[in-house]
Amino acid sequence: MHIWLYIVLFVTCVSAGLVDDIVNAIKNAATCASCHALLVPLKGLAALGDTPFTASLTAVCTSFGLEPEDVCEGAIGQQGPIIAHDLRAISPLKQTSEKLCGSLLGLCQPPAVNKWTVSFPKAAPKSPKPFVRTGKAPFQVAHFSDIHIDRQYTVGTDASCNKPICCRNFTDHTGPIIEPAGPFGSPHCDTPATLVHSFLDQVSKDNIFSLFTGDVIEAAVWLTTQQEVIDDMRIFNSELQTMLGAPVYPTIGPENSPTNAFPRNTTQQGNSQWVFDTQADGWKAWIQDAGSDQVKHFSGSYSIIPPGTNLRIISINTVYWYKMNFWLYDSDILQADPNGILGFTIQQLQAAEDAGQRVWIVAHMQPGSGDTLWDQSNYFDQIVQRYKNTIAGQFYGHSHKDEFSIAYSDYGNRNKDTATSIAYIAPALTPRSGKPAFKLYDVDPDTYEVVDVRVFYTDYSDPSFQQNPQWELLYSARSTYGPAAGLQANETLSPSFWHRVTDAFAANDTLFQQYRTYTARVDPGSCDASCKANTICALRALRSENNCAVTQPGLNFKRRDVEGNFVEDEDDTCEGKGIGHIFTRLAGWMDEADPVSGFLHLLILT
Ligand SMILES: *[C@@H]1O[C@H](CO)[C@@H](O)[C@H](O)[C@H]1NC(C)=O
Ligand SMILES: *[C@@H]1O[C@H](CO)[C@@H](O)[C@H](O)[C@H]1NC(C)=O
Ligand SMILES: *[C@@H]1O[C@H](CO)[C@@H](O)[C@H](O)[C@H]1NC(C)=O
Ligand SMILES: *[C@@H]1O[C@H](CO)[C@@H](O)[C@H](O)[C@H]1NC(C)=O
Repeated sequence: MHIWLYIVLFVTCVSAGLVDDIVNAIKNAATCASCHALLVPLKGLAALGDTPFTASLTAVCTSFGLEPEDVCEGAIGQQGPIIAHDLRAISPLKQTSEKLCGSLLGLCQPPAVNKWTVSFPKAAPKSPKPFVRTGKAPFQVAHFSDIHIDRQYTVGTDASCNKPICCRNFTDHTGPIIEPAGPFGSPHCDTPATLVHSFLDQVSKDNIFSLFTGDVIEAAVWLTTQQEVIDDMRIFNSELQTMLGAPVYPTIGPENSPTNAFPRNTTQQGNSQWVFDTQADGWKAWIQDAGSDQVKHFSGSYSIIPPGTNLRIISINTVYWYKMNFWLYDSDILQADPNGILGFTIQQLQAAEDAGQRVWIVAHMQPGSGDTLWDQSNYFDQIVQRYKNTIAGQFYGHSHKDEFSIAYSDYGNRNKDTATSIAYIAPALTPRSGKPAFKLYDVDPDTYEVVDVRVFYTDYSDPSFQQNPQWELLYSARSTYGPAAGLQANETLSPSFWHRVTDAFAANDTLFQQYRTYTARVDPGSCDASCKANTICALRALRSENNCAVTQPGLNFKRRDVEGNFVEDEDDTCEGKGIGHIFTRLAGWMDEADPVSGFLHLLILT
């Protein structure tokens, strides 16, 4: 019935000429230039208001079967008004539009970096403080990420369905249950509370503190509300407090409503302060009053010196650099440092350098990812290079994969001698992205450099999993990659070591395939020579302009990645119904019918 309401609205509000323009523009939008052209009529549609804009996009999504109807409605209902707001505010011809065309439709490559020289309070010291190992025993730190807890996970519902996540008692489910959801989780579903508790019980054993790099909420993003996000964040914070004996240093992830939608402080409407306030409160026991105050006032970022250490953990909110945060496209004025996240990082790094501390940078999205806007990644890299002697490690999540990424002083000449910083990326806890896993670091107490990374996992295909999940060692980085990369007994896992690991991948395909299996924790599929070259390139690129990712066309409302985010997926070969598919179908329709009636016909068909 609602679809009729949409059509009535659509026909009443939109002139036939405008529909004609939009249909033709969609039909022809196969290049970056034509995407700019498409934005002209879409801007006209947005000018009519959020409701006709959202209703029209929803009708297109539903008509083409991009997602089940409830998913189209929920997802576009949430993100549509932000995109309409963007379109009303920007010129279809300028750079912001180009970036929007890249992230929303995948039709434009990122524009060249807008050059900006980051300024620092002090020049790098001529003779930086040496951090020397004295042979002390390492201590342990756990790192977990992308836990995606589904509080509505229901045992006995279908673990196989046509929605982005299953194992829920969806009201529109019909027919017999094909694959009943078990007590501890399933590969098509987000994490049930039982598995979270099993994990927290396991992870609390040896570490002196944990890093949690975000993403608490389940991927039913088309259904989430602000209240649900608040409740889910609070419940998990309280579980961490009661079940872990040691502090947790978390980061802000995409937790928001809508997901990822953090408006900048230059935007009048929309506000994420409730996310920061909830976490400032929930994290206070670990990050103290000062850290909690920073979370409130620096858009979720804070720093903390774990008791008994000379280490400053700087936790920053990188969602302001995330391509899929659609609030970032609401102005033609380019902002080098949205919400001052880069400025906060510099201030904290300078304080650490002045105090002779080492630093770990912690955030949800790693700045070398294909999801990171090139400008902010480039500026962040300048900071990393300036403070390379202070930064002992970087820790991220977001990709759901067990990965690493290397920064270089010279990206034109990436080798073991120019490698300057190493980022560790934690695998996801949610079974939706392979076997649930987390990292345990052995850390040298003098230098705060990582001496070994051990990855633990639980095997959901093991019959005992549904009674009592077992967490076992998957591999140790030191023993798996050390010999091939010439690791010395007294050497930490330095940026240079990790570069040598990538050299070993290039030289030894068996080792590379082993890495890919560990990365995915499911069958990673095949990877030909160009896939291998791109994978190695991405490992050697903590600066996103250097990661060899090529934006692929695809309507990103459809292209939801493992996280349930609407992101482009570098190596998704299953992209059967991307925008190319839509255009082909649309073009087929247009040959037979005149555009307006053809388009309306498509709407009515649903
Ligand atoms: C799903 O919800 C319906 C309606 O509330 C209920 O009858 C049914 O038992 C539920 N199914 C499961 C597996 O909990
Ligand atoms: C936004 O944040 C930046 C960085 O903290 C700050 O310099 C600026 O004044 C803020 N702008 C507004 C409009 O609040
Ligand atoms: C490790 O030991 C070797 C041989 O004793 C020495 O040359 C090298 O400088 C040491 N490296 C580090 C990082 O201490
Ligand atoms: C390649 O790596 C595999 C797996 O680590 C190892 O067993 C093999 O010896 C290596 N081959 C060469 C030629 O080094």
